[in-house]
Amino acid sequence: MDPDLLSSFDTRRVGILTGGGDCPGLNAVIRAVTRTVRSGYGATVVGIEDGFEGLVESRVRELDVRDMTGMIREGGTMLGTSSKGDPWHYPIEGTDGSTEIVDMSARVLESIERLALDAMVAVGGDGTMHIAHKLQARGVNVVGVPKTIDNDLAATDRTFGFDTAVSVVAESIDRLATTASAHHRVMVIEVMGRYAGWIALHGGLAGGANVILIPEIPFRWDAVFRAVRDRATRGKRFSIVCVAEGAKLPDGSEVIQQTDVKRTDAKRLGGIGEVVARQIEQGTGLETRVTVLGHLQRGGSPTAFDRVLATSFGVAAGHCVCRGQYGVMVALRGTEIVPVPIEDAIARTSLVPPDHQLVGAARAVGTSFGDDG
Ligand code: F6P
Repeated sequence: MDPDLLSSFDTRRVGILTGGGDCPGLNAVIRAVTRTVRSGYGATVVGIEDGFEGLVESRVRELDVRDMTGMIREGGTMLGTSSKGDPWHYPIEGTDGSTEIVDMSARVLESIERLALDAMVAVGGDGTMHIAHKLQARGVNVVGVPKTIDNDLAATDRTFGFDTAVSVVAESIDRLATTASAHHRVMVIEVMGRYAGWIALHGGLAGGANVILIPEIPFRWDAVFRAVRDRATRGKRFSIVCVAEGAKLPDGSEVIQQTDVKRTDAKRLGGIGEVVARQIEQGTGLETRVTVLGHLQRGGSPTAFDRVLATSFGVAAGHCVCRGQYGVMVALRGTEIVPVPIEDAIARTSLVPPDHQLVGAARAVGTSFGDDG
């Protein structure tokens, strides 16, 4: 521990939480923050359980460097997380099964004061960054770390978790291709990503999908059928269609599985794979099957890339929080990790530009996006 560092800063207690959907690499961030803050600055790290819920319900525990052994390779999050703990939109369940949405932000601010947290590290996606920004505006010292398999946060070139999800998609397509080829079938694979097509684009490209459908590029049924039929005409007796859960049907509608007011984002997307498969079978007469990859994309160990990115983010966040650099989110810009204002991260969602270089590359190798491109 550097005594100069200790004397020049007064951050003695740092809270850390993980919010929103989990993703591989969260434990690697917790490990990196804990080691940097404790070993580098001698400050105490307080782990908050289940995202902001832990502050409302006072569920916290001190984290020690020894607890971090092996955490770089563990999926999930040792602190737990929640997609329903927005302090300004907090669901309280009544005994009659009803749900009331209340403002619990005052309770969260009290908890932060009672726990004597000088600063907090909030690891999460856009929902968590919005909450972090509101807390910062109310005088809480916050540093954000961007996570999400969706890679849809602006202000960072990458979020950790994305690379792992893309690897799962690519491997799954590889497996589907062999059985598709054996049975001369069309295989539709539905992948996550919310309103962004990054997972479908990268995963579909890596797996050599023949058709990729994403929210940012409107598709038409006739173009999808043509892409599949053309392959059959060329003697390729199977096709792989990779569809993002947020892709819009030709009439512009989304396919929604469920609406849940308790969630920060009430909409749960899902089900478009089944619709696409049914249409292809009817429109082409080719036997079609659907696989919904779901949470397999979020589980398990992080890839080496995600471990490195999560560790780099965690170390940078640890330094920011102990050096008094608050109101920022650590971000990857090119090959550098830099702090950026949290408001830049929440200003917009990062979507796939339809003229993105990778879209061009996929088209160049014969992938159809279900349009005329
Ligand atoms: O944001 C990550 C994500 O996995 C999305 O891709 C997906 O739409 C959503 O979370 C699923 O959320 P849940 O795990 O709450 O069903």
